[in-house]
Amino acid sequence: MCGIVGYVGPRDTVPILINGLKRLEYRGYDSAGIAVLNSEISIVRRLGKLKELENALVENAPSGFVGIGHTRWATHGKPSEENAHPHSDCSREIAVVHNGIIENYMLLKEELQLRGHVFTSQTDTEIIAHLIEEKYDGDLLAAVKSAVKELRGSFALAVISKHEPGRLIAARKDSPLICGIGKGENFIASDIPAILGCTRSVLLLEDNELAEVTCDGVKIHSLDDLHVEREILTIHWDAEAAEKCGYEDFMLKEIHEQPLAVRETIRGRFLDGRVTLDEASNLTDDMVKKVSKIFVVACGTSYHAGLVGKNAIEKWTRVPVEVDIASEFRYRDPIIDSNTLVVAISQSGETADTIASLREAKKKGAKVIAISNVVGSTITREADGTIYTHAGPEIGVAATKTLVSQMAAIYTLALYLAQVRGTLSQAEISKTIHELNEIPDKIATLLQDISPIKKCASEFSNCKSFLFLGRGIGVPVALEGALKLKEISYIHAEGYAAGEMKHGPIALLEKDVPVVVVATKGHTYEKVISNIQEVRARGSFVIAVATEGDSEIKQHAEHVFYVPETSELLSAIPAVIPLQLLAYYIAKIRGCDVDQPRNLAKSVTVE
Ligand code: AGP
Repeated sequence: MCGIVGYVGPRDTVPILINGLKRLEYRGYDSAGIAVLNSEISIVRRLGKLKELENALVENAPSGFVGIGHTRWATHGKPSEENAHPHSDCSREIAVVHNGIIENYMLLKEELQLRGHVFTSQTDTEIIAHLIEEKYDGDLLAAVKSAVKELRGSFALAVISKHEPGRLIAARKDSPLICGIGKGENFIASDIPAILGCTRSVLLLEDNELAEVTCDGVKIHSLDDLHVEREILTIHWDAEAAEKCGYEDFMLKEIHEQPLAVRETIRGRFLDGRVTLDEASNLTDDMVKKVSKIFVVACGTSYHAGLVGKNAIEKWTRVPVEVDIASEFRYRDPIIDSNTLVVAISQSGETADTIASLREAKKKGAKVIAISNVVGSTITREADGTIYTHAGPEIGVAATKTLVSQMAAIYTLALYLAQVRGTLSQAEISKTIHELNEIPDKIATLLQDISPIKKCASEFSNCKSFLFLGRGIGVPVALEGALKLKEISYIHAEGYAAGEMKHGPIALLEKDVPVVVVATKGHTYEKVISNIQEVRARGSFVIAVATEGDSEIKQHAEHVFYVPETSELLSAIPAVIPLQLLAYYIAKIRGCDVDQPRNLAKSVTVE
């Protein structure tokens, strides 16, 4: 998730671009750059946070009245000055900034190179500049329109051209883009905070639309040549609220970003009913077929994603999987050989215990695949391959969107392994791919009505302890629900396998100890109902997560959070979301700082 800004007007554009980018740094900050149009296009880019770019501009900021800027969250190509945006065509007559993922960029890049185009970066974005260069025939809008029609994937982009100094063209598909309407000046940006310092009048661009921006105004065009009318909105938020898109906290915003996070994570990985994992290309088919044991190592919430992965990998590949907390794995002299695959899951890519585990595994001869959200992080640099979760920066310390993205990523890895080993039929793989593609919309549906969860939170926010129970794929969901509640509301909570409750935790049960049970449809559903009856016989209230349409559960639980139906293995993603929200609303009632809980850090880079 990157941040883009653009300006056309009578004022010097550099300060406007920099101030806009400052308001978008929460969207990504491994490098930044601007392009300013005067008689020529001047491009200044720097690796690192926006401050690096600002310092570079103190002495020799280019002057001009049309410009574009970008703060990067790398997806393709490591963080570097060469990979920073803006990118230009062969003759530096066109400059482009982009947020999104171009799925077919490799094919387009090869074709452009065959036609003589010279590339200077590893990014997917650069191909856009060269495509426009080829298509430019005196009308920048027409050239951009023709170029984006060849793109597959997601994009929010802004383009300026030396040939058309008073004009900026923007386009969007599956990535946010807005237009700011000023007096004799106009703007584009990824998000409202970037332009609030200049105007509160906003035009929202929809998918498959382009904006033609000049000093005199903004004209919206449809990629399909449909007529477009769009109302100008007036934004009343302050800038900080706008960074949270109007949500009270980053955590709540990120919970609601989960449909997009999952969609962007699986984007481009399922083509024609098959799984493609270019990032795992170091893992040859021959190696995959020889794998006899898999370890998954991680910490905290990422460990829970690993437990979900164990269920899927073992079910689909029949390869035994051991999931280890990284701080244990690194010291227990694990039994590893050259046919061992280790999956290291870390959203930050900088967790000390997980890095140490990766090094221990490699020292013993294992192949290591990382699942991470941060391009160029330590774990991604040292692994043999990385599957990136394109969730965008997660500002809230408590992991939410990165968790569901990790689940989507490890489901994808499990399917890929099964595909190579031939342990799932093509029909089974296609069916599961279809199901995974439906998950983002199911999450979005779920998030439309969260009132039962808020009501439940108000009833139990003063409890001293909670028990979370589940069976099978419901166990990691229960563990994650307990962790979320603990880490942001500071209420004690335990996650447990429901079948294990009678071996000890049942002693905890009493009226003021609510029990949250993951009771989604599955082959152990009846067993879970029995466990619920054992709980209620001890006087505890039951809060159940259940599958839509399950009316039986109502007689067994005081509160039921319904989630959309999926196959049993994939139910972990929808099932965890009500528990994230329950923890969030309880913590809010208790006045806790949900974005920065006490004692916690977003990345634990020490032992
Ligand atoms: C998640 O809510 C926690 N803040 C924490 O457990 C986290 O998952 C853990 O520290 C691992 O972080 P990583 O994914 O960056 O390695």
